Amino acid sequence: MQVLKTIAGLRCYLEQQRATGATVGLVPTMGALHDGHLSLIRRACQENAVVVVSIFVNPTQFGPGEDLARYPQDLDRDQRLCEQMGVDAVFAPTVSALYGSESPSPATLTQVVPPQEMMAVLCGPVRPGHFQGVATVVLKLLNLVQPHRAYFGRKDAQQLAILRRLVKDLNLAVTLVGCPIVRDQDGLALSSRNQYLTAVQRQQATALFHGLKAAKIQFQRGKCDRTALVAAVEQVLDATPDIEIDYVDLVHPYSLKPLETVDTVGLLAMAARLGKTRLIDNMLLRSRQPIIAIDGPAGAGKSTVARLVAKTLGLLYLDTGAMYRAITWQVLNLGLDPEDAVRVAELAAACTIRLASGDGNQPPQVWIDEVEVTDAIRSPDVTAQVSTIAAQPAVRQALLQQQQDYGLRGGVVMEGRDIGTHVFPDAEVKIFLTASVQERARRRQKDLLAQNQPDVSLTELEQTIQDRDRKDSTRAVAPLQQAADAVELITDGLTIPQVAENIVQVYRQTLQPAAGR
Ligand code: PAJ
Repeated sequence: MQVLKTIAGLRCYLEQQRATGATVGLVPTMGALHDGHLSLIRRACQENAVVVVSIFVNPTQFGPGEDLARYPQDLDRDQRLCEQMGVDAVFAPTVSALYGSESPSPATLTQVVPPQEMMAVLCGPVRPGHFQGVATVVLKLLNLVQPHRAYFGRKDAQQLAILRRLVKDLNLAVTLVGCPIVRDQDGLALSSRNQYLTAVQRQQATALFHGLKAAKIQFQRGKCDRTALVAAVEQVLDATPDIEIDYVDLVHPYSLKPLETVDTVGLLAMAARLGKTRLIDNMLLRSRQPIIAIDGPAGAGKSTVARLVAKTLGLLYLDTGAMYRAITWQVLNLGLDPEDAVRVAELAAACTIRLASGDGNQPPQVWIDEVEVTDAIRSPDVTAQVSTIAAQPAVRQALLQQQQDYGLRGGVVMEGRDIGTHVFPDAEVKIFLTASVQERARRRQKDLLAQNQPDVSLTELEQTIQDRDRKDSTRAVAPLQQAADAVELITDGLTIPQVAENIVQVYRQTLQPAAGR
């Protein structure tokens, strides 16, 4: 493992790594690593070839009366942990190495200012300047490392929402992955600041989680309004001695706009003080249906299975193939040249594709700019050009945006190669559907026979499948990847309905109210 202390060293190291085409994952931290940090690092190691962990207690995000001077630091221990986890490089600069000054301040430093309305809620009013400091240092780190993915905990939900907006508003080419909150056995969310608590305070601190749990019970009983949910948390906190509430609030997890009621998804967030220690915690409340992301190699039966799962659960099958076909139809309809990447990019960015579930056995209905093209997109002309259109990165980017917009409403099933890692990294249900090469070759041979195609030997088919797997996993655009939190389903010997049933089971288990989470 490399330990890098300077920007020059980091840049040089990353240039070498990028030359090999490796995917890079970044986990920004302030050190004093605990299992919460380690969960981010573990996931980054599973999803990227090269993982950089930054350890930097960023002075610009601490206010004058805050705990910068006593913030826990133990770089040797942190380095050991990173090494054990398989991290490739730790970036641990000094303040002057990162900022070019011992005491960077808003007076001397170019800063990123997140949207005022996102800073006017939750921790913002109590911590003026904090989110500018966070956004600035994270943008610096993203610019220096240029990772494919960066990992953040949902424990700091406001930070995550603000950073997602930063990426969107400044058009950064990185995927932010939000990771679940890791808690101690008694429910207290892990935090480097828990070290400040006395034994008694540590005991009292569990009230934060108990308050959120009480609210969740109310929510599951159908109480969706802000007053009831906030009151449920406050009641528990008020009953605990020595806890002083900073705020309890209900906001939208992405926009952070205050919510009066949870229609699809809400973030119930709080901060409270125990003595001098300020702790935060939150819980997502969802009333929307989950997203099911199915990834896997070619020939694992993904699309048939995904359609069946969607039909069984009454969800929308988000048919990417149909979306690419709709754009292709529009390109041809307007008389554009499918190879003219610039014109195609402009068209893809400006069009709106709408899908609606078919009636079970029928394919879903498709509209592009409100023209129904369900049948038209199956024409031979469209079939002949669709791969040219689908290969264009700008088309993929435009569709990604539209797919993610569907995801906000939930209730979709989508299959592909990077749905759980890239399109919907926050999907509630992730499945990695796979089958042995031999099994996939057997299935392919059966399909070919059924279509009266010439007989191809199993050995030849196995070779083709192996080659395709290798290509799919190493391709630059949307490589095949198993998300660290995906459930792997090996479909050898299973029928399509059996595989679909397995996925439905996973879905149902996910929907169960998860006690203690
Ligand atoms: P720090 O508090 O060290 O946290 C680093 C990352 O670990 C953050 O993304 C945080 O949300 C995540 N994390 C902390 N506790 C967690 C828990 N119990 N479960 C899951 N994830 C958890 O957040 C920062 O540092 C800084 O603001 C930083 C982003 C590094 C910028 O300086």
